[in-house]
Amino acid sequence: MSAARSDAGTQGGERAGAAPLQATDRMPALQALLQALPFACAAFAREDGALLAANGLYHEEFAALEGHARRDGLLQALHGSEVDIDAGSEVRAPHNDRWYSLYWRDTEHAGQALSLLTAVDISERIEALDSHKSRQEKLLFTSRLMSVGEMAATLAHELNQPLAAIVNYLNGSLRLVDQAGGPVQVERALQAARTQAEHAAAVIARVREFVRAREPRRDTQDLATIAATVLELLRLEAERQQLRIDVALAAPLPAVYADRVMIEQVLLNLVKNAIEAMREVAPAQRGLRIEGRVNLDGEIEVRVCDRGQGLSRAESEQLFSPFYTTKADGLGIGLAICRSIIEYHEGRLFFEPREGGGSVFGFTLPRAEGRV
Ligand SMILES: Nc1ncnc2c1ncn2[C@@H]1O[C@H](COP(=O)(O)OP(=O)(O)O)[C@@H](O)[C@H]1O
Ligand SMILES: [Mg+2]
Repeated sequence: MSAARSDAGTQGGERAGAAPLQATDRMPALQALLQALPFACAAFAREDGALLAANGLYHEEFAALEGHARRDGLLQALHGSEVDIDAGSEVRAPHNDRWYSLYWRDTEHAGQALSLLTAVDISERIEALDSHKSRQEKLLFTSRLMSVGEMAATLAHELNQPLAAIVNYLNGSLRLVDQAGGPVQVERALQAARTQAEHAAAVIARVREFVRAREPRRDTQDLATIAATVLELLRLEAERQQLRIDVALAAPLPAVYADRVMIEQVLLNLVKNAIEAMREVAPAQRGLRIEGRVNLDGEIEVRVCDRGQGLSRAESEQLFSPFYTTKADGLGIGLAICRSIIEYHEGRLFFEPREGGGSVFGFTLPRAEGRV
């Protein structure tokens, strides 16, 4: 049945370009009105679906479409069905591959029940949208690639120091063994080397997981343990710089819901930046403090406070953008990575000037309570 109806439409279209013109002769006033409109319009008799009037744009744009001279033929060709579509719809016309916004409206004119079609060519808008979308997708892809690149760079960055330390410890151990030194010292040096090596291995493992796009593992973590690990990793450097690191965690500090290695990495980066910020400060004026507390929103807030040179407003605005660094040997990705890690944890990484001089870099983490 539907085939018969579209056949009729097709024949109407094929018969002659003259058919619609004859039809439009029947309604000259409507024809004149449609002609004045700036997009393709056609009026069909509601009773039998025959084309009664159409403007020049309609003929130009739809004459090549099978069934264009009948309402049901047109519905079939454009909408893929004969079901009347009341509301406007956006379709791709099969004969010219252009996009149209189609509106069907029932109306009356000179005692005749009409079905009025307007077809606005929206190809340009659709193309603009598509290219915007693909630009967005490209951006997303680039930023994902960038974070993989960033990760690789951090890998080098993070592993450099523990690995150098391992070599130093091992050289020292070898010297001790050489001089037949006490076994207790040898043991201590080897244990320190092991801590460094374990951290390096954990970082590598995490990066591998990240590249394989697996989810980081979040569970109940204790910040005091995380801080202790970070201090252990930085002990040598702190001693070399005659720097004391105070840890002041509110007791008891509720557990956080976090990936341990990731948060270790964040804290390590922040404390390293704090140490580096105080390179030029006289040892007596140096002061590095790690604070931990529950903030007013009930999140756990960690703050790394230094007595370095602090930051100007302009500097503080660029802080978190990748590759921003003011250090000759800096990579400028530490804070950018800290921020993505903290945001992944639904927390916030922030900077504020420290009272009495220096900076505070802090982050928030959700409590584990009720999450695991
Ligand atoms: N505690 C701090 N005090 C002052 N400036 C800081 C501090 N932490 C970070 N910055 C500034 O932010 C920049 C970016 O830090 P980061 O992303 O860790 O990269 P990098 O340490 O490799 O330079 C630093 O170069 C420095 O200018
Ligand atoms: Mg840094």
